[in-house]
Amino acid sequence: MYDFIQGQLVSIAFVIFILGLIFQIFKFFKLTKKKEWSYPPGEVKREKKTAGQWVAFCLASLNGTLWKTDPLLTVVTLVFHVFLILVPIFLLGHNILLDQSWGLSLWSLPESITDILTLVFLICVAFFLGRRLFLSRVRAITTVYDYLILLIVAAPFLTGYFAYHQWFNYDTVMTLHILAGEVMLITIPFTKLGHMLFFFLYRFLIGNEYSFARGERVW
Ligand code: HEM
Ligand code: HEM
Repeated sequence: MYDFIQGQLVSIAFVIFILGLIFQIFKFFKLTKKKEWSYPPGEVKREKKTAGQWVAFCLASLNGTLWKTDPLLTVVTLVFHVFLILVPIFLLGHNILLDQSWGLSLWSLPESITDILTLVFLICVAFFLGRRLFLSRVRAITTVYDYLILLIVAAPFLTGYFAYHQWFNYDTVMTLHILAGEVMLITIPFTKLGHMLFFFLYRFLIGNEYSFARGERVW
């Protein structure tokens, strides 16, 4: 069992993660169709903007966003997402394993730094948890599913932190860490964590009031 979690399941998790994302991309294009324009798109007059007008336009568009309504949440979510992606990729422990099994490794951050970033990441998770528990307007729309998702995301960082500090039994914690990482990878394509992909597909390809581009597909 331990061997399976630390061996084959690692590869299985990565394959499910990649194939799951590819499957979701195909499903997205199958479910959405190109918009049937009631007028030829070429006829829509779009005003040309100068660089200054573009900056003013971009700043004005920030007005209705989270940045204006809740700057603290904006900063926390930014830190959360940046560390979520950077820490595991540039972690020495991970790159050593990558080197041992594939003979390749990325540049690594010093362990003292990744350890602090891990702690900051966990504080961000605690902040999200606190909002869901104590802010009535957030609690009202929170279900067990939201807590479960937070747990799935926090678990690899929490167990990674325990492993680095050699708290509890190292082998058990390491096995739990690998299992937690695998669970996260496997669940990303099939849960709301899939927003990692859908965020970009929806914002750039589907035409709606939140689009970043003139979306050309509809449900
Ligand atoms: C699936 C396979 C994975 C393996 C085999 C693995 C393996 C390891 C190893 C060997 C360490 C070093 C422990 C030590 O210093 O004693 C570590 C630490 C860590 N891992 Fe992973 N890991 C995996 C997945 C993940 C994932 C998916 C994440 C997060 C998205 C993650 C986040 C971390 C963090 C944050 C630490 C270090 C915490 C700290 O230094 O305070 N790991 N991992
Ligand atoms: C890489 C592209 C990604 C983008 C653009 C993105 C964007 C977003 C946005 C807009 C939100 C909603 C606002 C907020 O609460 O912060 C959000 C929330 C969240 N994201 Fe991402 N995300 C990405 C990747 C990921 C990944 C890979 C994971 C985890 C595997 C993840 C986990 C979460 C979680 C857990 C929340 C909700 C926190 C809560 O409980 O409120 N995100 N993300």
